[in-house]
Amino acid sequence: MSRVLILYGIAEGLSTYGVATDVIQAGTLDPALYVYDGIIVAASIHAGRYQKAVEQWVRAHTHEFGARPTAFVSVCLAVLQKSDPKVRAELAAIVTGFETTTGWQPPMVKQVAGALLYTRYNIFKQWIMKRIVAKAGGDTDVSRDYDYTDWADVRAFADEFRRLLAAAAA
Ligand SMILES: Cc1cc2nc3c(=O)[nH]c(=O)nc-3n(C[C@H](O)[C@H](O)[C@H](O)COP(=O)(O)O)c2cc1C
Repeated sequence: MSRVLILYGIAEGLSTYGVATDVIQAGTLDPALYVYDGIIVAASIHAGRYQKAVEQWVRAHTHEFGARPTAFVSVCLAVLQKSDPKVRAELAAIVTGFETTTGWQPPMVKQVAGALLYTRYNIFKQWIMKRIVAKAGGDTDVSRDYDYTDWADVRAFADEFRRLLAAAAA
């Protein structure tokens, strides 16, 4: 099942400033876009690509985005290794692939590290993730979860987005 990581942090950050937010999982509801003043699309990378449901939704709706503020939040652990030029290039290629597939060039792209939720993975996923993460020198205690997201950075992004909304409304 395709899934989109729902960044509640962003929704909370925006609602602090009096911005109403709807958080919708791609592939479920298909909301009418005319009621929204801004759109934030968030997807996480699994095995080198974003959730298909998100790609399909964006491809189907990008022509409706118009001039309102939009942003793409890309979640993946590779962000933690972004000082490595090879990893940076891989990440840029994945984002470019998303833009090509969807036909959407997000004016704002926010990179977020995400989390390793070992305790929620099945045994197989746990084993795979532990192997991949061990190779990268990361955290491998599968009896607990790890959150790598810099939430202050996410809040700063939410604030920046709110400013764009205010500017567009003015
Ligand atoms: C099965 C699986 C595959 C993943 N593959 C990648 C990957 O190819 N590159 C990467 O940078 N992160 C990868 N990650 C890390 C995720 O992007 C990160 O854990 C994110 O927080 C996942 O959010 P989600 O579980 O809500 O989709 C993977 C995680 C899982 C569970």
